[in-house]
Amino acid sequence: MTERPAPTPYPSLPDRTRLPDEYRLILADLPRAGWQAHPDFNGLAAFWLDRHLGFRRMLDALAADLQARIDGDMAAEAYAGRLSRLGSRLLGDLIGHHQIEDQVYFPKLARLEPRISRGFDMLEADHHALHDLIDSFATGGNGVLAAQGDAAQREAAGGFLTDLGAFDRLLTRHLADEEDLVLPVVLKHRVG
Ligand SMILES: [Fe+2]
Ligand SMILES: [Fe+2]
Repeated sequence: MTERPAPTPYPSLPDRTRLPDEYRLILADLPRAGWQAHPDFNGLAAFWLDRHLGFRRMLDALAADLQARIDGDMAAEAYAGRLSRLGSRLLGDLIGHHQIEDQVYFPKLARLEPRISRGFDMLEADHHALHDLIDSFATGGNGVLAAQGDAAQREAAGGFLTDLGAFDRLLTRHLADEEDLVLPVVLKHRVG
């Protein structure tokens, strides 16, 4: 019995600049520019994009608040309230979103398109990488909330800017690559 060669490892989230070529087979037939006009767009496809848009908006709001705090344009108490609300909502929503993708949608979509099934494994690995970042994001955010007084909070906010930037960069990459893998399969097979 011959041993099967190990599959080539997929590029990790921090190393990617786009969805790797081997997973773009269905995307080639259903490019992003045509998604909205597709007759089956207004179902799971639109819902998926809308969820991602919500995450991007929350990240933008967190970044804008943080910059306002660092620049002294937002008071300490107001900032703490907004960070606490928005930060926990983003992290809670994101963890729930990843769970349903890993447990329900990725296995289903991978079965429909076995040629690109490893792409779904790659996205699941992204979720693990993002959860590590969620931990440092939460630690950084809690550090800002625990800082007493204006000067201490602004200093902690400067450190949190780095955590938020790293999180934003990788989450944005993951969302875009996931859309390029998932949406064409959803539209082609009318999953909904
Ligand atoms: Fe995801
Ligand atoms: Fe997603």
